[in-house]
Amino acid sequence: MRAVVIEELGGPERLTPRELPAPAPGPGEVAVDVVWAGVNFADVKARSVGYRVEALPFVPGLEVSGTVRAVGAGVDTVAVGQQVSALLQGGGYAETAVVPAAHVFAVPAGMELRTAASLPAVLPTGYALIHEVGRLRAGETVLVQGAAGAVGSVLGQLARQAGAERVFGVVSREEKAKYALGLGYDEILVGEDFDAQARAATGGRGVDLALDPVGGDSWRRSLAALARYGRAVSFGNASDAPAWQAGFADLAPRAIGVAAFSILGLAAADPDRLRVLTAAAFDFAAAHAIAVPVTAEFDLAAAAEAHRLLESRTSTGKLLLRVRQE
Ligand SMILES: NC(=O)c1ccc[n+]([C@@H]2O[C@H](COP(=O)([O-])OP(=O)(O)OC[C@H]3O[C@@H](n4cnc5c(N)ncnc54)[C@H](OP(=O)(O)O)[C@@H]3O)[C@@H](O)[C@H]2O)c1
Repeated sequence: MRAVVIEELGGPERLTPRELPAPAPGPGEVAVDVVWAGVNFADVKARSVGYRVEALPFVPGLEVSGTVRAVGAGVDTVAVGQQVSALLQGGGYAETAVVPAAHVFAVPAGMELRTAASLPAVLPTGYALIHEVGRLRAGETVLVQGAAGAVGSVLGQLARQAGAERVFGVVSREEKAKYALGLGYDEILVGEDFDAQARAATGGRGVDLALDPVGGDSWRRSLAALARYGRAVSFGNASDAPAWQAGFADLAPRAIGVAAFSILGLAAADPDRLRVLTAAAFDFAAAHAIAVPVTAEFDLAAAAEAHRLLESRTSTGKLLLRVRQE
């Protein structure tokens, strides 16, 4: 099968097309013939700094859609030939991917495979950040970093549908502001002083919930933007900053809370809870017409171009790889 392999960590040029033997499913596993693979920022981190890479060579790719090629012993949740999407710990940039059955989901009736590839990581992550970890209540205000990216594209919509009073997005450049405004955000803040901007925009009060995938200075400013009793949720470290710490002296003065979330961590530790989360996220998205816009498609062999675009900080929405014809 064709696959894209990282043999050494480094730049996008390290994404190397290779022929590999097609993997077969073991007990409890499903082999999926991949049609579309989602490109995630975590794939960029896997390639550049080895994020969640246990050993090289490594095939990146966390989200796929396609058809079931074969099932291993004990699998009765999906059948050969069925259209599915899946959340992987890697291996999605390939014509065939093997996944634990618990991480494979039937494509909802009427949904195209192309759409289905854009959702398995993005949508449950967004839903968990708003509903489970962030525990947004109606009438609260929300601040989202990376508002024009893939996860950011659903966070604005999810927050609005959950009853947020105002939703602020943060982007690094003006060009992305217009795009994000169409996705549930009331106002887009541009620039590193977004904490001061958010405070000014809320009459000095601050926001109730801040969602931060960047870390470092951005995380400190997310905390600074919180109102009394506010919560901040860390869900990434795009800045490669050292791990954050927070103690009583940081949190008690405004009685703020901090939390973190990882969909891959949840998938590895608690597949049953992942299924519950994914079902809730897909149901909510269907009920409220929430989607992640796919803005660019690349052939599998051109995965490096997709990574260059994602790293350039000019992309919006979701990028996909076309792995095989439907
Ligand atoms: N915890 C989880 O379960 C989970 C799941 C999925 C994704 N994530 C995280 O969510 C974030 C978004 O992921 P995504 O796949 O949807 O990607 P994305 O948002 O489509 O693209 C990454 C975005 O990160 C922002 N960014 C900030 N600092 C950056 C830097 N130093 N280099 C490049 N981009 C930078 C950019 O927006 P601006 O230029 O506008 O700042 C860029 O658009 C990532 O940090 C990812 O790791 C976490």
